[in-house]
Amino acid sequence: MLRVVVLVSGGGTNLQAIIDAIKADKITNAELVGVISNNKTVKSLDRAKAAGIPAVSVSPKDFADRATFNDALLAKVEEFTPDLVVLAGFLVAIPEAMVKKYSNRIINIHPSLIPSFCGVGYYGLKVHEKALERGVKVTGATVHFVTEGMDEGPIIAQKPVMIEEDDTAEVLQQRVMEQAEWIILPKAIDDIANGRIAVVDGKVRHV
Ligand code: GAR
Repeated sequence: MLRVVVLVSGGGTNLQAIIDAIKADKITNAELVGVISNNKTVKSLDRAKAAGIPAVSVSPKDFADRATFNDALLAKVEEFTPDLVVLAGFLVAIPEAMVKKYSNRIINIHPSLIPSFCGVGYYGLKVHEKALERGVKVTGATVHFVTEGMDEGPIIAQKPVMIEEDDTAEVLQQRVMEQAEWIILPKAIDDIANGRIAVVDGKVRHV
């Protein structure tokens, strides 16, 4: 069984999609062993508790500086002894030490087709605002492994989503979640849990 820890910052709809997929046997060979939030009061923590998953918060506000927070976050992750760390709307930069320690074992969901609309400053609703500002006709979501460069790791899966003329960022965000994120993130976890993914020469191969 792959031990999975999920890191969240907000609403936790991607977390919910993972919980539901495990319940429905769409993800097999994996168990959710913990949820960590950087915010104390977010819906994600309630979702985890309702599913009987240990849920804790590690907030930067409780630490003197970033380095101390980073150490505490890594220590909390390690307590769960995960095989895979899933960033499901975790809007905090992952400490370098964690990236090194969990090389090819951290994945992230990003709400655009990388390399468009990604990198520093592109998170949550902002990604969709930028896509609408640019006037692109197609957007989507990407699941990728996490490396030191922001949103630069090997791509596991992508799914396109059409933009409609009167879209607001909120409407587009919801469509990207429904038509892409909640599908490709659970599928990627299932693929990893069942040994269907390998990283070869910095690229993901389905084996
Ligand atoms: C999701 O759209 C996710 O792709 C995005 O934050 C949202 C979290 O929603 N992540 C990023 O922007 C990462 N750069 P959720 O809490 O309802 O899953």
